[in-house]
Amino acid sequence: MTSTRGPLLYEGKAKRIYASNKEVEVLVEFKNDATAFNAQKRAQLEDKGRLNCQISACLFELLEREGIPTHYCGLESDHWMVVQRVEVIPIEVVLRNVATGSLCRQTPISQGTPLDPALLDLYYKDDDLGDPLLTESRLFLLDLVSPESRQEIETLARRVNAVLTPFFSGLNLQLVDFKLELGRNAAGELLVADEISPDTCRLWDMNSRDEKERILDKDRFRQDLGGVIEAYGEVCKRVQGATPKPRNYR
Ligand code: TMP
Ligand code: ASP
Repeated sequence: MTSTRGPLLYEGKAKRIYASNKEVEVLVEFKNDATAFNAQKRAQLEDKGRLNCQISACLFELLEREGIPTHYCGLESDHWMVVQRVEVIPIEVVLRNVATGSLCRQTPISQGTPLDPALLDLYYKDDDLGDPLLTESRLFLLDLVSPESRQEIETLARRVNAVLTPFFSGLNLQLVDFKLELGRNAAGELLVADEISPDTCRLWDMNSRDEKERILDKDRFRQDLGGVIEAYGEVCKRVQGATPKPRNYR
């Protein structure tokens, strides 16, 4: 490793964050742990950490080339990356291009309904509370963001969708929905943080019409469909085939 690994700062469900030798950067280790339903369901999936790290690196670099700022600095190894230290905004931003998942459980909208413009939902990032859906008024009641910041978050998230949707579609992958986490660096700049991977995106294989077979994301794990790593591997292969090799951190 070119960066010296400092103390563990935070351990999440899928990643560990370590201090580095630079105040403004941290090291992220992608774990093989898979969790769903607020970690009530757990497994170890060999190679998941590497696949999500590689996919995220390619996608962060793609966003960067499109002028969208991210926390990504470069890869340290196959399942470690260096990122800017950010203050994570405790909001999960979900963009939905096609209705499925919790939207169909909580509303009468049928599975597969196209959503154009994409539906943007905000959730309060708090595992103990089960990441509840936020309303506009609760967002301001909790003083999570200012109205200006909320607008900036929505604009950035929609720009990410506008880049990722056609990119995936060129790989015959439909970007059904995805979750973003955003943070601010020391300069106050809003950045895309966390990861962008089959753990955080729903991706359907446009080459398949079978409703289960086409799933190439964490729903395979959530729904016990098997072939989780094979699906992540297929996404990684397609993404890597369409993007330059991610840069090494130096
Ligand atoms: P949902 O339909 O379950 O609300 O999920 C919407 C999207 O957000 C889907 O792409 C999966 C992603 N997601 C996460 O990344 N983390 C989570 O904890 C949840 C519930 C969903
Ligand atoms: N990420 C959440 C968990 O680990 C839920 C999910 O993705 O389904 O429990």
